[in-house]
Amino acid sequence: MRIKMVAGNWKMNKNLQEGIALATELKEALQQNAPKCAVVIGTPFIHLASVAQIIKDSPIRLAAENCADKVSGAYTGEVSAEMVRSTGAEYCILGHSERRAYYHEDYDILKEKVLLALQNGLKPIFCIGEVKEEREAGKQNEVVRAQLEGSVFNLNAEEWKNITLAYEPVWAIGTGLTATPAQAQEMHAYIRSLIAEKYGKQAAEDTTILYGGSCNAKNAAELFANPDVDGGLIGGASLKAPDFCTIIAAR
Ligand code: PGA
Repeated sequence: MRIKMVAGNWKMNKNLQEGIALATELKEALQQNAPKCAVVIGTPFIHLASVAQIIKDSPIRLAAENCADKVSGAYTGEVSAEMVRSTGAEYCILGHSERRAYYHEDYDILKEKVLLALQNGLKPIFCIGEVKEEREAGKQNEVVRAQLEGSVFNLNAEEWKNITLAYEPVWAIGTGLTATPAQAQEMHAYIRSLIAEKYGKQAAEDTTILYGGSCNAKNAAELFANPDVDGGLIGGASLKAPDFCTIIAAR
């Protein structure tokens, strides 16, 4: 059985005090209303160790939003997968379109990051998705396939068990333009078919595939109603505990 999940991606928002307040508010809200799905929050590096303490006796799990593509050493400003793991984080968001577009993370860099995350006991939440022009040209399937082949289909079957995917059409991220439930379902089913080709039907059935891109308290339920949409990766709406809790309750 695959895991249903709602994961937050705070991106570059909230200073340390604000992040601690948000994590505390979320934890208290979920004490009132126990989640029926896995709940993960992805925070900037600086929050990880503090937030890990706050959520330690709660159902909330912690993700970093990135990790280095190098093991350790003279890489000023970088944060390694081992360092991330040592904070108590269990997941690492990798391959986000903002990292690909603004920080030039290509297939090979992402392949390294995924391997280092896995080697250090972190579960990648690996993001894939096409830009607007690619969707308009009808190339979304080929883009997503290339992203998988370029950075994660090198993994063996054991390693694959630790992968969560997030389909995030870039044109839907932060734009208010959500994919329709039908568009999301169609792509998720296609992604699952690619996993089946590569790792077999059971592995495909067991892989959690999240939808991300302007998923919010209003539209989450209809997106999650699709058989291949196992949950969401939530940006903007994860910054307000009540909205995030509504999305969690929709799953
Ligand atoms: P959004 O971001 O929910 O603000 O569109 C989603 C994401 O980028 O993970």
